[in-house]
Amino acid sequence: MTTKKLDAEKRLQLLVQFGIFVSKERRLDSLLELLAGQVSQILNGDRCTVFLCDHKAGVLVSKVAQGMKHTEIRVPLGRSIAGLVAATGESVNIPDAYADQRFSPDIDRVTGYKTRAVLAVPLKNNKGEILGVFQVLNKAGGHAFDEDDKGLLLLLASVAAGAIENAKLYEEIKRSQLETIYRLAITAEYRDQKDTARHLENISIISYLLATALGFSKEEAEDIKCASPLHDIGKVGVKDAVLLKPGRLNDEEQKEMRLHTLFGAKILANAESSLLQLAHRISVCHHEKYDGSGYPKGLKGDSIPYEARIIAVADVFDALCMPRIYKPAWPVEQAYDHIVSGSGTLFDPKVVNAFKAIYPTVRKLYGCNTVAEPA
Ligand SMILES: [Fe+2]
Ligand SMILES: [Fe+2]
Repeated sequence: MTTKKLDAEKRLQLLVQFGIFVSKERRLDSLLELLAGQVSQILNGDRCTVFLCDHKAGVLVSKVAQGMKHTEIRVPLGRSIAGLVAATGESVNIPDAYADQRFSPDIDRVTGYKTRAVLAVPLKNNKGEILGVFQVLNKAGGHAFDEDDKGLLLLLASVAAGAIENAKLYEEIKRSQLETIYRLAITAEYRDQKDTARHLENISIISYLLATALGFSKEEAEDIKCASPLHDIGKVGVKDAVLLKPGRLNDEEQKEMRLHTLFGAKILANAESSLLQLAHRISVCHHEKYDGSGYPKGLKGDSIPYEARIIAVADVFDALCMPRIYKPAWPVEQAYDHIVSGSGTLFDPKVVNAFKAIYPTVRKLYGCNTVAEPA
């Protein structure tokens, strides 16, 4: 088999793979990263940058990886090669960037990279609107990009544009869904807490950190973070006399208060969205205890949904650190000790271990800038 035929077959394989990967990824950041990697591989380029237009600000924006860090690059529309492609909708192919006056070495200065060959094409949606620019740099072997490369990059750009629009739409839907959830959650906790938004935010952050430390994927951890504010949604059904009582609750009142888990179950029952189904599991089970002494069902160990075991730690920790009508705020160290001493009884030991691991970050969240004293 000739090298050319081998190359063509490899490219075809990469193209098929490109279509599959790109259609699966719904998160915009991951999609852009995936596109950059795939496109430079297919085009035999050393690097690919995906720019997106921010028409309001009149700039192209791209996040470039630099070691472990991501730097955001902003190019004014109409300036530099990518900016020109975005402004005119015309592709640009130049063999030697530094010999071309349209090239601006600003990005090389930021990234420490040496650009030679540049191939840049517009990313257009099916209405012909320009969403951004694909820019591939430095073809392997020091060659210039040719007409075949340009045709191929335009083809990839048209597939990518559809995927980018879908990802943007998905993120928009998710954002509005989250905003609704958040506002709903604030309503639920509004009556009994002065600092509702802070409490919900802290729980979201701690539960996200815990889920990540426990090995949940980024997407799963984000879902837990987003659903967690609804844990006490059932409080809307608890009477003022009980919810707002400044002192200790008697047995009857405690029974009434515990009903908030069941009210939450009713409010969130039979939800179609997977996020609300998750919120349902959390709201019903966040007061279950690992040893079976919790409520409403007295579930034990791993029969308590994992997400609810995570929220239990985040919720108790934050509730202790916050002032409530029936108690002052506890110092962070004391709340931490309470979580650690509840390992295996109140809380899942795996979650408590994860909490120990994220504790330095948690301390910063509560404004403690010093390292915790060893116990
Ligand atoms: Fe609760
Ligand atoms: Fe809460």
